[in-house]
Amino acid sequence: MTSENGSSSGPWLLTGGAGYIGAHVARALQSAGLGVVVLDDLSTGVRERLSPDVPLVEANMLDTATVEKTLRKYQVSGVVHLAAKKAAGESVEKPLLYWRENAEGTRCLLEAMTAAGVSRIVFSSSSSVYGEPETEDVAEDAPTRPVSPYGETKLVSEWMIRDLGSASDLAWASLRYFNVAGAGAPELGDTGVFNLIPLVFQAITTGGRPQVFGDDYDTRDGSCIRDYIHVVDLAEAHVAAARKLLEGPVNAAYNIGRGEGSTVKEVLEVVREVTGIDFDYGVVGRRGGDPSRVVARPEKANAELGWRAQHDLRDMVVSAWEAWQARPAG
Ligand code: WQD
Repeated sequence: MTSENGSSSGPWLLTGGAGYIGAHVARALQSAGLGVVVLDDLSTGVRERLSPDVPLVEANMLDTATVEKTLRKYQVSGVVHLAAKKAAGESVEKPLLYWRENAEGTRCLLEAMTAAGVSRIVFSSSSSVYGEPETEDVAEDAPTRPVSPYGETKLVSEWMIRDLGSASDLAWASLRYFNVAGAGAPELGDTGVFNLIPLVFQAITTGGRPQVFGDDYDTRDGSCIRDYIHVVDLAEAHVAAARKLLEGPVNAAYNIGRGEGSTVKEVLEVVREVTGIDFDYGVVGRRGGDPSRVVARPEKANAELGWRAQHDLRDMVVSAWEAWQARPAG
């Protein structure tokens, strides 16, 4: 792929930039002076999350013509591709929705980039590509055996990007997100109540009880262990990857986690301490597809991207709780 515009001074096109994670990445790119244009279909994104000076193109990834026109119009330096459906549980019930939006969406984006001569991409991948890891902590060379259509679409998207990189001058970095939480500002909270911390907030603010999905796992307290990463740290990892791509090819996947695991019950304890609400919880059966432990080895990102997580679990819960309380419905 010859880079017609080969721009390295133009803004970055951020797909899905009006979402929870996307809005944080938009702010981080702007703060780093990299410039950003957002393309989002607003199916779950919210325009108000973006500062007024950020151009927003309302379009879906499958609209290749509009994506190509946008790439050309703004002479972008590269693409940060976040637009996707991201609920693993939903992907089991609606696999074709996920194959279309996530996998076909990525393929359409790559077609548009090829046509417009844009040759840099930072891709939002997921720790879900690993499925049930065989080792305590997961390095990037661990086997990739996703157990949900969501994880499969993320892995297949990585392969598409890798293969185009082999066939052209596309320079790429795939960031495998671990468990994202927290908020960079009260107005940027995760409004999708799909993941553990928002689900716990919803339960304790409506008189319900948080449910622990199984406490018979082979872990220190029987509940699952995950590597929680602050969304602000995650956003900074995108800036680090974009900067690296401006220097030259990267063509690698990176684990974006802290390298520390927390059990579900430990998260609940932090929520109790931060909110001051002395709630109890119920224990129900295991949730299908849940690995007992998924914790990153982040050394590759630390060394090669010069990126390292700065926030701990308490920072995530404090900022998420502030955002939850600031919600209109909150
Ligand atoms: C976390 C833990 C549950 C809710 C997420 C994203 C995925 C990927 C990785 C980015 C699990 C337990 C949850 C509840 C519970 N990130 N739990 N009670 O499944 O680890 O995956 O991070 O791509 O996209 O989905 O996150 O928040 O659903 O669950 O006990 O009410 O909390 O069993 O161990 P998960 P989660």
